[in-house]
Amino acid sequence: MKREKLTARKANIDRLYEESVQCPEFEVSFIKKLFKKYFNTKCISLREDFCASALISSEWVKDNKNNTSISVDLDKRMISAAKKTAQNRLDNEQRSRMKIRYGDSSKYKGDIVDCILATNFSYFVFKDRQKLIKYFSNAYSQLKKKGLFMLDAFGGYEAHQLLEERTKHKDFTYVWDQSSFNPITHEIQCYIHFEFSDKTKKKRAFSYSWRLWMLPEIQECLKEAGFRYVDVYMQGWDNEKDEETERFYKVTKCDADPAWVAYLVARK
Ligand SMILES: C[S@@+](CC[C@H](N)C(=O)[O-])C[C@H]1O[C@@H](n2cnc3c(N)ncnc32)[C@H](O)[C@@H]1O
Repeated sequence: MKREKLTARKANIDRLYEESVQCPEFEVSFIKKLFKKYFNTKCISLREDFCASALISSEWVKDNKNNTSISVDLDKRMISAAKKTAQNRLDNEQRSRMKIRYGDSSKYKGDIVDCILATNFSYFVFKDRQKLIKYFSNAYSQLKKKGLFMLDAFGGYEAHQLLEERTKHKDFTYVWDQSSFNPITHEIQCYIHFEFSDKTKKKRAFSYSWRLWMLPEIQECLKEAGFRYVDVYMQGWDNEKDEETERFYKVTKCDADPAWVAYLVARK
């Protein structure tokens, strides 16, 4: 049977977002690997801040029958999307180990967990030090003594440029649009657009008004919030394929690549 072509009218932007920028299997295996490395035991409880459709949490509870998760987001539309994701991907027992909560990640108090995860640069929404440290302090208070706080960051000189980067997928094109950047405040306005083969578009399907935080600033703020140890993991590069690898390496020095993605891993 011939598949119907995807168009802007028919597309579900949350699914397109997931396909374009998320890889929950990677995230789950990275958390497990790092937790084992630092504490030589299993990570069981996960808090996913800024969870959007809570794809990582649903993968987490699926991965092991003891795993639990709590997913927090400040957008009611995303909370109902997260509930739908859980409904579609999980059985009743798996869903019973997953909590989805509406709330501000910088204030929300819930179960004290093994690992807190903030992915796709979501904490860049906090544009001044006080607000960023408030979020990090809340994460600190919600983490066990032997716990990991994992967050990603991006940078490099291309992050300061106005650009539109297109990635072709099977049924659509994902467009990352760095629309404005202010070097004085490091405020950056980004959008995600989706384009379809029939020339229809979902312009500004997602919009992000962020501060582009630098790695030394983030590390300093984590320390000010109480974290004693902060490690930086840089994404590897495959010279032959001329693209990023799926591996991240703990480093204290690296090349000034034009565009990089890193993980910060903080401990008490
Ligand atoms: C860039 S998306 C990240 C989605 C997902 N974590 C990922 O890895 O793709 C940012 C999400 O953060 C949510 N958000 C923004 N400010 C928030 C806050 N203060 N507390 C909780 N969620 C917030 C938005 O509603 C949005 O769903």
